[in-house]
Amino acid sequence: MVEVNPAYWLMRLLEGVAWREGPQMLLLLVLLAISSNIFLASVSAKTGPSHDKVVVCYISTWAVYRPGQGIYAIENFDPNLCTHVVYAFAGLDITHAAIKSLDPWQDLKEEFGKGGYEQLTGLKRSYPHLKVSLAIGGWNEGSTNYSRLVDNVQLRRKFVEQVSGFIRKYNFDGLDLDWEYPTQRGGSPRDRENFVTFTKELREEFDNHGLLLTSAIGASKSVIDEAYDVRQLSRYLDYLHIMCYDYHGSWDRKVGYNAPLSNTNKDDPLTVEFTIDYLLKLGAPPSKLVLGLPFYGRTFKANGEGNLNDPTDAAGFQGPFTREDGFLGYNEICSILSNKTSGWSQKWDPVACQVLARSERDVFTQEVSVVTFDSTRSIANKVLFAMTKRLAGVMVWSIDTDDFKGNCQLDEETYADYKLVSIAPRRINQNYPLLRTINEATTLALEELAANDLNSHVPDVADNEIPHGSNADRKSGASSLVFGLGLIISVMYALMCIS
Ligand SMILES: *[C@@H]1O[C@H](CO)[C@@H](O)[C@H](O)[C@H]1NC(C)=O
Ligand SMILES: *[C@@H]1O[C@H](CO)[C@@H](O)[C@H](O)[C@H]1NC(C)=O
Repeated sequence: MVEVNPAYWLMRLLEGVAWREGPQMLLLLVLLAISSNIFLASVSAKTGPSHDKVVVCYISTWAVYRPGQGIYAIENFDPNLCTHVVYAFAGLDITHAAIKSLDPWQDLKEEFGKGGYEQLTGLKRSYPHLKVSLAIGGWNEGSTNYSRLVDNVQLRRKFVEQVSGFIRKYNFDGLDLDWEYPTQRGGSPRDRENFVTFTKELREEFDNHGLLLTSAIGASKSVIDEAYDVRQLSRYLDYLHIMCYDYHGSWDRKVGYNAPLSNTNKDDPLTVEFTIDYLLKLGAPPSKLVLGLPFYGRTFKANGEGNLNDPTDAAGFQGPFTREDGFLGYNEICSILSNKTSGWSQKWDPVACQVLARSERDVFTQEVSVVTFDSTRSIANKVLFAMTKRLAGVMVWSIDTDDFKGNCQLDEETYADYKLVSIAPRRINQNYPLLRTINEATTLALEELAANDLNSHVPDVADNEIPHGSNADRKSGASSLVFGLGLIISVMYALMCIS
């Protein structure tokens, strides 16, 4: 795609006038051109990440109910760090075959509600790059009502029409399907085919309005095999958000990694690498795959030393903000680890790209607390992996557990595994260390790959053209707007000067 520079054309036009009108007019026109350039520069200022990959940011909007430093409200969101933001979650009203707010006071404006939907979509006015989607589903919504919906042609038709109106009413750009999962948890074997039909019908309706349709996709091989016709779904979805986490947790009753990138045993299906390679093998185009990154860890209470595979209880432990068994946000993890008197130690696994952190043994219970998680170095390496596979970009679950306040020390080791980077880029802000790492690492990884490609075959970047809401679309949209403006202004100036 050719970037049009409106200022250049404006100069050319003015030059033409000046040539006919003489030197004084030329001086005047140069001044006018400079001032209009300043004006145009302010109009065309780009918001959002400077690279062309997607960064999909989920917000778990119930984070507003967390205590103290854990409270995350839409005011805490920084739109410059994401290309897409997803409001999680809305629910399904199966009796009306309709999407519904699960927390009307938080989401809507009626009855003095806080209007979270319109607060988030309203950010598009100041951040025109931003695409805002509404997610329907999530773990707590279960699977059976979705299974009923997609199995009935009338219910599907009603839903498709209603949801289209609903998301447009609140000025969302799209819908994200978070059905966990078709065919699972009380679903039916027919879900696999019905889910394709459902996405096809949504796509037909959404194309009338230029809306995005995406879906969260489970990462385990058995779920992928049973739930998804990957090739068909890829036709109708703009992006597949792959939930590459929860590979291991306290439910295994032993210490394991939440989201290991690789294993020395390449046949282990419980790795990020396996999931992505498997989806590519099943026919998912890389340009539609978005690699999910966890901004949280999985916790364990171990009896032994707290090494990998040591036996644990089934629940794990909770954090002070997220208060959920077996789960700890990155902000909770980094505040424990930055406390030098807490007695915690940590170990990096270079194959899994995971950190295992553990406490000292509790003198009363004899237990060791363990958490496995993604550090900034894990994130940087996974971004490099995603770029190597030429994926569309990465997704985050969820940005409300990043260190969004900037309370923790920055990690020195973030780019230790990058060849071209010796020290981490300087940052003006210390907050959002994980999300900032994603955006930096995307640029750095693309540079590193471009350097490697000088010595090898270069795949066509056009492979990564994305039909809906891609960065390329957004940029060309912005520049044609500016070009149009520039043309109008310059014609006005020219007429004024001549008369
Ligand atoms: C499914 O729908 C029924 C009927 O509206 C509702 O009572 C039930 O809570 C729903 N299931 C879940 C898991 O939300
Ligand atoms: C650091 O850890 C120690 C030992 O667990 C604890 O007593 C102290 O309150 C912690 N400090 C902070 C600032 O959290």
